[in-house]
Amino acid sequence: MRIDIVTLFPELCDSFLSTSILGRARAKNLFEAHCHQIRDYTKNKQRQTDDYPYGGGCGMVLYAQPIADCLREVQRQCAEQGRSRPHIVFMTAAGRPYNEAVARRLATYDSLVLVCGHYEGIDERVIEAFGDEEISIGDYVLTGGELASLVVADSVLRLQPGVLAEEKGYQEESYWDGLLEYPQYTRPEVWEGRPVPPVLLTGDHNKIDAWRGRQSRARTRQRRPDLYESWCETHPITQIPRWKRTERAQLIRTDAQLDAAAAIYSEGWMQMCRDICAPAYVEAHTPAAMREELARQRGEGWAFYLHSTADVPDGLVGVCHKTGEIGHLFVKTEARGQGIGAKLLEFAIKKLPEHPRPWLAVLDCNTGAMGLYRRMGFAPDGVRNVFDPATDPNSTRLCRELILRRCQPVSGTR
Ligand code: ADE
Repeated sequence: MRIDIVTLFPELCDSFLSTSILGRARAKNLFEAHCHQIRDYTKNKQRQTDDYPYGGGCGMVLYAQPIADCLREVQRQCAEQGRSRPHIVFMTAAGRPYNEAVARRLATYDSLVLVCGHYEGIDERVIEAFGDEEISIGDYVLTGGELASLVVADSVLRLQPGVLAEEKGYQEESYWDGLLEYPQYTRPEVWEGRPVPPVLLTGDHNKIDAWRGRQSRARTRQRRPDLYESWCETHPITQIPRWKRTERAQLIRTDAQLDAAAAIYSEGWMQMCRDICAPAYVEAHTPAAMREELARQRGEGWAFYLHSTADVPDGLVGVCHKTGEIGHLFVKTEARGQGIGAKLLEFAIKKLPEHPRPWLAVLDCNTGAMGLYRRMGFAPDGVRNVFDPATDPNSTRLCRELILRRCQPVSGTR
């Protein structure tokens, strides 16, 4: 790939592209980079690059002519090298937002030109005449496009084959798969009293991968719900983990099973509602109270199933044959991250063959559960309740209980 930066500060850009990982890759000819001085293309005696804006206003505007001549020279050089027509990007705060998907698209061009504006902007006519697109790196205004062009150059060039020592490197990093990166640790094992998460010291790579996956999903849910939502849309669960030989789900019949289910229900409910309900209300949902609730709902037509691994109860799900509702899907904290939730949801769907579109209710603040349901083919189908602190003394944060209904079964779901 060839990358050209058109700027009033070519030394600044060139020094960045000659440093560290990019510098080494450039020296190995893994990409070609050229930084052009706009001033070299001026035609006036003072080598002036900008002028006052027509219509008045503060600041200066870059002339079209030197930028156009510089771009023509880049086009000429690319043609001489037998390259395809360069893709020309103007860096402006008014451009389209930049992200990893755009970086991956730009990385496919054989030749990319980044034009840096300065002062108040660039004469619009040169953008119209040459620009394939305008890009902004964020909702803030920089004094010039240099930093923005280097952000784009860096994120595009690191995707070029060989630039990162191991290709795997960039696949695991933030945004590659639409999720934020999991946290990383290095020596010492305990730093200022803070130990490394013990799972990372086990040497068990299945466990480590599962932990990292959970961390990535949880971080993305908390920090970037927008990213998480799109990730769920694009990552349907098509491969539900197989049931292990030690796993089973049993219809709850005995008192002991009901006790175990009530304990899981109570723990899950309290975790789910801790941030949105008054503490006294949360604390009232003890295992004993939840046992009564389960017994009452059984009388109303619900069937509950207890999941256990090696005879230790660790999950719960309920189905209502009358209405086609699935509910009470909870997995004990220590059993999470092994796909038990997805397995139990699939199990519940199969228990309701008479309901082609089973449904469930979920709090919109329970982003973890929402993600699982979306990925399992459930889509919003209305609002069942609104919990509003203004009208409900037990609630401390406004949240809605949404109804999600199964759309098309997820293709490939076993
Ligand atoms: N030039 C000034 N601000 C910018 C931004 N946010 N992105 C790209 N170019 C810019």
